[in-house]
This record gives sequence, structure tokens and C-alpha cells, in this order.
Amino acid sequence: MRKKIVAGNWKMNLDYTEGLTLFSEVINMIKDEVTGSQQAVVCSPFIHLHSLVQLGKDYNKVSVGAQNAHQAEAGAYTGEISSRMIKSVGAEYVIIGHSERRQYFGETNDLLAKKTDAVLKNQLTPIFCIGETLQERETEKHFEVIKSQLLEGVFHLDETAFAKLVIAYEPVWAIGTGVTASAEQAQEIHAFIRAEIAQKYSQQVADDITILYGGSCNPKNAAELFAKGDIDGGLIGGASLKSRDFVDILKVFN
Ligand code: G3P
Repeated sequence: MRKKIVAGNWKMNLDYTEGLTLFSEVINMIKDEVTGSQQAVVCSPFIHLHSLVQLGKDYNKVSVGAQNAHQAEAGAYTGEISSRMIKSVGAEYVIIGHSERRQYFGETNDLLAKKTDAVLKNQLTPIFCIGETLQERETEKHFEVIKSQLLEGVFHLDETAFAKLVIAYEPVWAIGTGVTASAEQAQEIHAFIRAEIAQKYSQQVADDITILYGGSCNPKNAAELFAKGDIDGGLIGGASLKSRDFVDILKVFN
């Protein structure tokens, strides 16, 4: 059985104290209410990482992740953070290729391939994001776009390395808009992603990889989305900033 994951992406929200408060609330609720084997991942800004890892270290249902990492190990890259540094504070995941990084910071599939390599080299788990824009969907290019994001971003990996990834499908038109992809639309793309993986690697790798849905996912729509056969959890933006909502989404897998 593949892993069920609900990952929160706090984006550039919450100061240090607010972040610690939210995380403590999440841990307490999980302790009391989560009964299944699902995994929570909280992807915070860099400044919170070390403290969140310390707060969460006795709770194996909660892991901590970063939202980005530089592709180099170290060097003269003012203002950047490497995977090695993220690893050194005990975080376990890194979001790579979020559409906001692609859109506002010009991150290309080529660059994201290098970032993925750096994350894996440091024994961290990449949550690799893919997804089409509204225009790409309206012009029926969504399958093509997703395929090239996979091909250029992660299909250079050998099977052992690829099997360590988590993939997140986030249609850009559903992010922060309140418009969720329907469960059928999301399932269609997730099945497509899994089929591409089966073709490139093997059915076993495709069956075992966790594929998350992201985009206006909330406690009201999560159950319907996660009931679909190829949707293994969510990557949650806005709703991850409220402990009650985030844990309620996680509890769909109870
Ligand atoms: O990475 C999560 C994401 O982009 C979705 O954000 O606010 O639509 O849940 P939101």
C-alpha cells in the first residue's frame, strides 16, 4: 500500500511565533484524533524549520519540510539555502517546482531537475509539483504539459531514485482561487501521471508512488478527492494555516 500523505504548504505566511503556535496545535490535535497510518508533512518557511523539527521529534505522524532549495551544495549564492542545510536541521521533505516558483522566479524544468538531484543527494524527499495553467487546460494542452514536466523534471532519474519521490498535481487555476478541480478531473490526471510512470519505469514503481492533489483543497472537498483511486492525499495551501482545517483534512484517512 502506498503512503497516504497530507502536506501543508505555509508559503510565505506566519512569523516565527505564529508558526510555532500553529504547529503545536497541529501536533496536539494529531495526537488526539489521528488514528490511521497517514503522514502529515508541514512545509514551513526556512526560519521555522529547526524549531518545528524539535517540537515534532517525538511524533512520527508529523514530518517537516522546506518549500524550496538551491541546486548547489554550497557556495557564493547570497540569500539561498541548500538541501544540505535543510537536512542538517532534521527536515525530511522539500517542495520542488511549485507553480509559484515556476511563475514568479522563472524556475524551468531543467533547473528543477537539478534541484531534485540535490534534494535526493541529501537523502531528503522531494515533493515534485506539476500542473497546467488555465490557458493550457482551455487549449487542451494539459496532458502534454504534464508529460513534459515529468519528462524534463524527473524522468532523468533512475528507477531507485525516482521511487523516492512524492509527486503533487496542482492545476495552477485551482491554487488559491477557491476553484477546486473536480474529483473526476483530478483523478483523470493522476491516472495519467501513474500511467506515464508505469511506461517509463515499471508498474510496480507506478503503483507505489504517492501522488498528491493540490489546489483549493479543504475539509469540505477532501474526502471526495481522496476517495479516488489514484489520489493519495493533498498538498494544502490556505487550509494548512488553520490547525482545525489541516487536521480535519488529514483525518479523511482515519
Ligand atoms: O502548494 C499548495 C497550493 O499551491 C494550494 O494552495 O491555497 O489553493 O490550497 P491552496
